[in-house]
Order: sequence, then structure tokens, then C-alpha cells
Amino acid sequence: MIIPKDLIQILRSAKFVTALTGAGVSKESGIPTFREAQTGLWARYDPMELATPLAFKKNPKLVWKWYQWRRELISNAEPNPGHYALTELELRVPKFTLITQNIDGFHKQAGSKNIIELHGNINRNKCFDEGIMVDSWKDNDAIPPHCPNCGGLIRPDVVWFGENLPSVVINDAIHAAQTAEVFFSIGTSTLVHPAASLPIYAMNGGAIVVEINPDETPISQKVHYAIREPSGKVLPHLIQQVWNV
Ligand code: OAD
Repeated sequence: MIIPKDLIQILRSAKFVTALTGAGVSKESGIPTFREAQTGLWARYDPMELATPLAFKKNPKLVWKWYQWRRELISNAEPNPGHYALTELELRVPKFTLITQNIDGFHKQAGSKNIIELHGNINRNKCFDEGIMVDSWKDNDAIPPHCPNCGGLIRPDVVWFGENLPSVVINDAIHAAQTAEVFFSIGTSTLVHPAASLPIYAMNGGAIVVEINPDETPISQKVHYAIREPSGKVLPHLIQQVWNV
């Protein structure tokens, strides 16, 4: 796999680099991507019908159990070389911002620091009614557990379909895209907004846009570089080619 020579040169001198990641980055950790079929007893459910406030109100137990299943998947997996390569990239670039749509927490686990978690984090929980973060509760046998503050139901701290992203989060992400000299779009189908508009903000801000994805996406024809390989393979190789590490 060849990293274009001019991209290597650009990265060596770049000061502001931003990366947007999606489920594809965690694929090589064994976590199915968002749009891959669900497995086992969850095969018959469509994530789009589970990850909504309405679904939780209708059947909180089912939605909570689904997230417990996903938490189990994630706790039995770990970051892959693609995650660690992004940690290395952050050490080599004066200003690096990692924007992720993933809720698995693997970027943090791999050592990345400047992370914007667009869609939240499955390892955090909050009260459905008050929105306050809840990290412990008494009634461990209740499914879902109850908020120690108001008795309401506890939910994962993730963005559900039909919910808005916190404005500070999306504004920070847009700023990081608009000010980037190089913008990576890695392992995302760029289908879900507002995340999917970030590569366009970057392009309009004059960034060199690099897509790393084995498959085509709606931005593939617009980006400056499209590397059609898995991120767990490309990213370590790219770091090695640019900074000889
Ligand atoms: P998707 O499942 O939509 O897309 C994953 C992308 O990763 C696809 O384009 C795959 O081709 C690509 N891919 C697969 N294996 C890869 C690999 N080894 N290396 C690189 N790329 C690979 O997941 P997302 O784009 O992350 O939102 O989905 C975005 C959002 O849609 C999710 O965060 C979720 C969903 O609605 C919420 O839950 C709010």
C-alpha cells in the first residue's frame, strides 16, 4: 500500500490536523460497524428502532439490555493499531483534534487526548428525566436502574436518533474541521448528519481531505486522497512513512 509522496510531505509540515472517525475504525477490534447486521438474539432488531427516546420510553428494559449487550462486546474487545496510530499522530502534530462518532471509548483507551465524542460514550450513564450524569445506583437488580436523585430511569449517555447533539460539541467539531490543514475521514459512511457535513466544512476551509475506507462513500469523489484500505492497516503505515516511527 502506497501513501502518496505529496501527502507525506504535507503531513510532515502540517500544524492543524483533524480526524473524523466512524465505526469502521473499530471494525478491526471486532466490533461490528453500525450498519452491519446485528448478531445473535439482537439480529431481528434494527438499531435505528432501538436507539431512540421513543423506543426507550416504550420498552426501557429492551433498550437497556441492548446497550448491556453492546457494552459486553466492547469490554471483551480492545483498541486496534488504527486507534494507537491516531494517538501517535496526536503526538507528532502541533494541533490535532479527534472527532469520533463512535461511542465505544476506544480512542480514549488508546491514549488519544483531544477527543470530541459527537455521539456520546456507552460507558457513561445519565438520568433519562434530568439529564444529569449518574455513575452509581443502589437498585442493581432493576432493569434499567433508577436515578438515585429523582428515581427516574437511567439511560446510556449516547445520542439517539431524533436527538440533537449538544451545540457546544458540534460547534467545536465544525471549528476543528474549518481550521484544519489536513482533515481525515476514517471508517465512516458519511451518511449521518451533522457528522457527515464535517468533511465539507473542512474542504470549504481549504483543508486537504483524506478518506480512509475500503468502500466508496458519498464524499469519495470529492476528497483529495481516497485510500481504499482498512484503517488498522493504513494508519500505522502512514505514521511510519511520515515520521519514521
Ligand atoms: P457505518 O456502519 O455507517 O459505516 C462504517 C464505515 O466503515 C463504512 O463505510 C465501511 O465501509 C467502513 N469500514 C468497514 N471496515 C473498515 C475498516 N477496517 N477500516 C476503515 N473503514 C471501514 O458507521 P458510521 O459511519 O460510524 O449514529 O455511522 C455513523 C453514525 O450512524 C453512527 O455513529 C450512528 C449511526 O446512526 C448514532 O448512533 C447517533
